[in-house]
Amino acid sequence: MNNRSMSNTYEYGDAEYWDARYCEQAGSSFDWYQRFSALRPFINKFISSCSKILMVGCGNARISEEMVKDGYVDIMNIDISSIVIEMMRKRCMHIPQLKYMQMDVRDMSFFEDESFDSVIDKGTLDSLMCSTDASFSAFLMIEEVNRLLKPGGIYMLITYGDPSVRIPHLNQPGCCWKITLYIIPRAGFESVVGSSSSLRSVMEPVPLTEEGLLAPEYVLEDPDSHYIYICKKMED
Ligand SMILES: C[S@@+](CC[C@H](N)C(=O)[O-])C[C@H]1O[C@@H](n2cnc3c(N)ncnc32)[C@H](O)[C@@H]1O
Repeated sequence: MNNRSMSNTYEYGDAEYWDARYCEQAGSSFDWYQRFSALRPFINKFISSCSKILMVGCGNARISEEMVKDGYVDIMNIDISSIVIEMMRKRCMHIPQLKYMQMDVRDMSFFEDESFDSVIDKGTLDSLMCSTDASFSAFLMIEEVNRLLKPGGIYMLITYGDPSVRIPHLNQPGCCWKITLYIIPRAGFESVVGSSSSLRSVMEPVPLTEEGLLAPEYVLEDPDSHYIYICKKMED
């Protein structure tokens, strides 16, 4: 899945769309954008294995199960699709570290303020950004994520959205983040030997300008790269 195939598609914001999709995919799993193996160094670096984690828009991805195998002990998974939540509950009933609840990220009032150390979002803000009321939905979701995080907590956003289209939403009123950006090529992308991106480690943060944009000289070799925003919740 890349930027172009996800953009201009209002269905991604609809619960009905996801229910129908997950009915078709019964019994299977699909990890959007990146698998755990590619994300593991970032998750291990920023999220401690004993932390309380909220996986928003979990879908039927394997990432939470892989995290448990890697030592993570407390992951609450939510999704707007009751179909996928029921499937995942059955699939993971033998894994006590994983809990599943049907919930809309725009209203997570079930949880008290500052209930989580970390929130992981792989493709869910992106889905909301494809809905007809994209900006308002994104506003509600980010407000909720901010409310649920403890001070110093981490919102890890994995997205196809570059800083010009994601930082303005992240920096909405009421939120105070320290944002560090990483960029990883899509799975299977081979960079040209000797190019600037082949020489750069994906674990090197990508500098942002004061306006929160990529520096003009930054070369994005794979146009379908994914962006990992590490947003640390700061005291106001
Ligand atoms: C692009 S998929 C990503 C699934 C999974 N995170 C992954 O990485 O493979 C987006 C997920 O967000 C869920 N979703 C969409 N809108 C939502 C909302 N308002 N609240 C909760 N989940 C939502 C969808 O049901 C879907 O499972």
